[in-house]
Formats: sequence, C-alpha cells, structure tokens
Amino acid sequence: MSVVVRPASPADAVVLAELSRAAIGAAEVYTPAQRAAWASRRSVAAHLRFIEVTRVLVASVDGVVAGFALVALAPVDGLAAGEVDQLFVDPVSGGRGVARALLSAVESTARSSGLASLVTHASWRAVPVFERAGFSQVEVESVTLDGEVLTRALMLKSLA
Ligand SMILES: CC(C)(COP(=O)(O)OP(=O)(O)OC[C@H]1O[C@@H](n2cnc3c(N)ncnc32)[C@H](O)[C@@H]1OP(=O)(O)O)[C@@H](O)C(=O)NCCC(=O)NCCS
Repeated sequence: MSVVVRPASPADAVVLAELSRAAIGAAEVYTPAQRAAWASRRSVAAHLRFIEVTRVLVASVDGVVAGFALVALAPVDGLAAGEVDQLFVDPVSGGRGVARALLSAVESTARSSGLASLVTHASWRAVPVFERAGFSQVEVESVTLDGEVLTRALMLKSLA
C-alpha cells in the first residue's frame, strides 16, 4: 500500500470535514458524549480557513483521501509557529501508516520552512502516534467542549 501526500486545496474542505468527523467517531478512548462534543465543532468553513492560513497536507491511498494534518508555519488563529494540528485518518485506512506518512511530511515541510521545533496538543488516541514520530510528552492537559472534559497531551519535538 502506498501513501501519497500532497498539499490541500480549497476543493478538499468538504471531504476533510467529513473525514474528521468519521475519525473522531472511531476514537474510542473517549466516551460517545465526548466524541459527539468534539465532532460537533467540525465545519467546512473551518477547514477552508485551515487551508488558507496553514500548510494542510492530504494523504491518499489508491487515489482516495485517507487522512490529513496541518502545520502552522507562523502564528495564526491561536496556533503557534510549528504547531501540528488536525491529524485525522479515516478509520477505514487506520493502522496502515497514514498518520506516520503525514507526520513525516509535516516534519519535512517544517524543516524546509526553517522551523526549529514542532508542538502539538495531541488527543489521547494520538499520543502513541506522536511518540512514534519522535515527539515527547510535556504535560497532560484537558480541554472542555460543550461541558465534556477531554484529556490530551502537550507534546514537543525538536528539529535541531
Ligand atoms: C490517531 C490517528 C491519526 C492514527 O492514524 P493511523 O494512520 O491509524 O496511524 P499509523 O498507522 O500511521 O500509526 C503510526 C505509528 O503509531 C503506532 N500506533 C498507532 N496507534 C497506536 C496505539 N494505539 N498504541 C501504540 N502505538 C500506536 C503505529 O504502530 C505506528 O508505529 P510505526 O510508525 O512504528 O509503525 C487516527 O487513529 C485518528 O484519526 N484518530 C482519531 C482522531 C484523533 O485522535 N486525531 C488526533 C488529533 S491530535
């Protein structure tokens, strides 16, 4: 199976919003109520904005969109420079290295842009995935969405 990673275009926004909802629905480390609160915040407009102001990378398997992630190359919309966000893989393509390919491409993009480090607020599901990509946990955090408290982790990776 080969994973191809490319930059997103505005035409991807609808598919990425749908894919993110499917990925969240399958994140069984969180309760159904937590997942519903998280998924309810997804919108096509937000994904269009991500594509406009950050570097969004899209992974495809056999020509079908299988996942995406973004890295902010400069501070924008509450993201820090070097912040990795919105890492989502379609559950039908899970466990096959799609996230690994996306994080590798994110890192190459960040290095080419002169960033010295990457930071992320990883979902509890994604913590081992970021660890495999060389990130270290700095602290455990929680975020409250519609009254639901979700645990996540602040993680860093130096590119030095
Ligand atoms: C988290 C998520 C992105 C992982 O995507 P994926 O494509 O299935 O992950 P990969 O197959 O690329 O796995 C990458 C590495 O992490 C490892 N890994 C994945 N899940 C793991 C787990 N639960 N425990 C331990 N290691 C795990 C894999 O073995 C792989 O290691 P390798 O590179 O040494 O082979 C996907 O499950 C998802 O979208 N989840 C729901 C949404 C979410 O939580 N997004 C993160 C927001 S910060």
